Amino acid sequence: MKTIEPPVIRLQDYTAPAFLLDQVDLTFELDPDRTIVTSKLAVRRQDGNAEAFHLDGDKDMTLLSVWIDGRELNSDEYELEEESLTLHNLPDQFTLEIQTAINPAANTKLEGLYRSGGMYCTQCEAEGFRRITFFPDRPDVMTRYRVKVCAPVDSCPILLSNGNNVETGELREGWHYAVWDDPFPKPSYLFALVAGDLAMVEDHFTTRSGRDVTLRIFVEHGNETRCDHAMDSLKRSMKWDEDRFGLEYDLDIFNIVAVSDFNMGAMENKSLNVFNAKYILADAETATDSDFELVEGIVAHEYFHNWTGNRVTCRDWFQLSLKEGLTVFRDQEFSADQRSRAVKRIDDVRLLRARQFPEDSGPLSHPVRPDSYIEINNFYTATVYEKGAEVIRMMHSLLGEEGFQKGMKLYFERHDGQAVTCDDFAAAMADANDFDMSHFKRWYSQSGTPHVTVVEDYDAAAKRYTLTLSQETRPTPGQERKYPLHIPLRTALLDSNGKDMAVSRRGRSATEHLLQMEADKQEFVFEDVAEKPVLSINRDFTAPVVLHLPYDDATRAFLMAHDNDAFNRWEAAQQYASALMLKMVGEYQAGKELTVDPDFIAAMGRVVQDQEIDASFKALLLTLPSEEYVSEQMSVVDIDAIHAAREKLRRAIGEAHQDGFKHIYDATKQSGPFSNTPEAAGQRALRNSALAYLGAADEKTAPARLKDHFDTADNMTDSVAALRLLADVTAPEHDRAFDIFLAKWKSNAQVMDKWLALQAMSRRADTLMQVRALLDHPVFNIKNPNKVRALVGAFCSANPLRFHAADGSGYDFLAEMVVKLDKINPQVAARLMGPLGQWRRFDEDRQRKMRSALKAILDSGELSRDVFEIASKSYGE
Ligand code: TRP
Ligand code: ZN
Repeated sequence: MKTIEPPVIRLQDYTAPAFLLDQVDLTFELDPDRTIVTSKLAVRRQDGNAEAFHLDGDKDMTLLSVWIDGRELNSDEYELEEESLTLHNLPDQFTLEIQTAINPAANTKLEGLYRSGGMYCTQCEAEGFRRITFFPDRPDVMTRYRVKVCAPVDSCPILLSNGNNVETGELREGWHYAVWDDPFPKPSYLFALVAGDLAMVEDHFTTRSGRDVTLRIFVEHGNETRCDHAMDSLKRSMKWDEDRFGLEYDLDIFNIVAVSDFNMGAMENKSLNVFNAKYILADAETATDSDFELVEGIVAHEYFHNWTGNRVTCRDWFQLSLKEGLTVFRDQEFSADQRSRAVKRIDDVRLLRARQFPEDSGPLSHPVRPDSYIEINNFYTATVYEKGAEVIRMMHSLLGEEGFQKGMKLYFERHDGQAVTCDDFAAAMADANDFDMSHFKRWYSQSGTPHVTVVEDYDAAAKRYTLTLSQETRPTPGQERKYPLHIPLRTALLDSNGKDMAVSRRGRSATEHLLQMEADKQEFVFEDVAEKPVLSINRDFTAPVVLHLPYDDATRAFLMAHDNDAFNRWEAAQQYASALMLKMVGEYQAGKELTVDPDFIAAMGRVVQDQEIDASFKALLLTLPSEEYVSEQMSVVDIDAIHAAREKLRRAIGEAHQDGFKHIYDATKQSGPFSNTPEAAGQRALRNSALAYLGAADEKTAPARLKDHFDTADNMTDSVAALRLLADVTAPEHDRAFDIFLAKWKSNAQVMDKWLALQAMSRRADTLMQVRALLDHPVFNIKNPNKVRALVGAFCSANPLRFHAADGSGYDFLAEMVVKLDKINPQVAARLMGPLGQWRRFDEDRQRKMRSALKAILDSGELSRDVFEIASKSYGE
């Protein structure tokens, strides 16, 4: 290994800042390759602190001068290192002026100030501000910002920063400026600046206390017509936060800017959210239904951060889930209130299982509140976000909506304007409800997914039903010993007609009970249980655990048909299908013919025929568990076997219910103008599910059928559904459809991302070859994160069959791309590597090949902290 090991940052080493800031004034003279930044800080020593003042910096930035109280320092009066500037012998209060030069055009890391499609923009979370100027770049240093942006009028008519525009004016020939003042003290990671020639759409929202807020979305010229959905989502978010959380917007202006080059989804900078354009632009022609949902969810998420993240922020980056877990919970609830709650919950659990569960059982497993990191950018994870949201959701289940809102109210009363910890949040919840959170809080510090095993006993004579639950969390890196967690499980007992029975527990009779597991092993007794019940446990997925249930296939079919908890109905279908697929995998491995269970086919037939359930839920019930989900349940993953089993099952379902699927396909055809209501989207989802089964049932007619669907599609959801299936097909229709799509959409970046990803996800044997060829295609651009994720990311993370090709070619490809990308954009490079870290789950030959790909990365030369941390932790001892 050639890289010198970078230092590990630990939560236990936290100390409060030695100096605080009363005010910061920034001036930017924008120039593509030499922007001058002048910062003036009003600094004050924390009582009695004798330390030196440490400011963070970056090697891509040039220090021009340092002044204290108006006197310029000589270079021997400060300590300048690659990533810091330290000042000694300081008075208790002083003015510090620093001038730096930076090069936005050369900034391919997309952190700090950079250029995207001719505009200037910033991304400061988590530690990008230190690439703009030397600064105490830590979230517990909060201050007021006043920002002057100077630029040429013709290239940058629009000049934006946080807060209110308090002044504008002319400068020397052809230049102008704008001054922005943000009245709310904030940490540096929430600073933002945008300048360029942008189009704008404007709308208004009146808060419930009567404040008129101007809402603006800035986009590249020509995209103004594609902002309606984002704007509508924003207004609904503002209203919803008032109605459900009692939280109002606090300024007269709220700006959103869409940029094409962006490392993640979006960023909640105070009053100036910056978005990956992909999550703003959406119209009927170019956006799928899932794009519409993503835009809505992400606009809401960033807006909700105004309170959970900005007004109350994080003390340090170990507390990241304080704002992210809570804000994800809030955006999930918003979407659930806007559309089908059950469908939303199922989608969220699928995401959790696909992303967070593998992370939590792999080498990168970490608690919701991590104890240490090398590079904080690597901790914007499914664990911090999605599991973090589950932890908040469990608090909500334990306290109820009213109790939870009482806790939120106390949280803001105590901490508005502060930088706080996850413990502070839990304390507010606990104190507002007089609820003991001490055990529950272990969810923040213990990593790994708990496994809960269920044993049941029914005493007919005593009408007593006893559940014995045991929990176990397997060791994770750095945590050998695991302790029991406080696990809430919403539970009901069904009678033989499938109805929830009223049963008693601790003298209280109800049809549903919230069981609270706290020990390794625990008994739960129900009285007055009239007949032998069927158990429906962890309803609505109250706890993010893996359940081991004593169900047989008949019980699963029964729950699939009757459970009145929609989540558990879906869950029963998933468990039934995965048990069956695992059995088929065994047959495949034994070289036997794969047998399909006719009872399961019949159960799916009842779903096909069911007229009662809504279309989007039906589409979910008809979706078999993913190959990745089934992989999770095997000790040694056999991708080929899983793929064969899933395909065989899909074909069998399609063949057995062809008539039913044809009926669905015809009956769900929509006429008239496009609508993106949940109902219309549900119809499309169901119709496309029927299409997939019809294609699977008859391989000969499939290409023509899919091509016809493609040709007649009048919206992106249908086009993509056809292309997704055609991608796997080797027939002239495949090439023709992809060519037509390219010709039609080549100038639309978002649609081209889909075109790349669909090809990268193809199950065809020549996919890697195609992917390599696409690296040279004019629509691909290695400097654009969306393009990299669409092509390289989709192949490595969403195409297990081809990524895990037995010859190791997929692994070598990923290693090659990571090494190349690390020089361009370390954050993006590091995020691609997840799949290689899963090597322990594969056969010995693949293990060797995956590890040697990781080794190749580690041996490739100097690495960023981002890639070094993931590669070294993934490689293991
Ligand atoms: N805070 C942002 C969010 O959750 C995400 C974020 C963190 C981010 N770091 C980033 C976005 C870097 C873009 C680039 O909404
Ligand atoms: Zn967030």
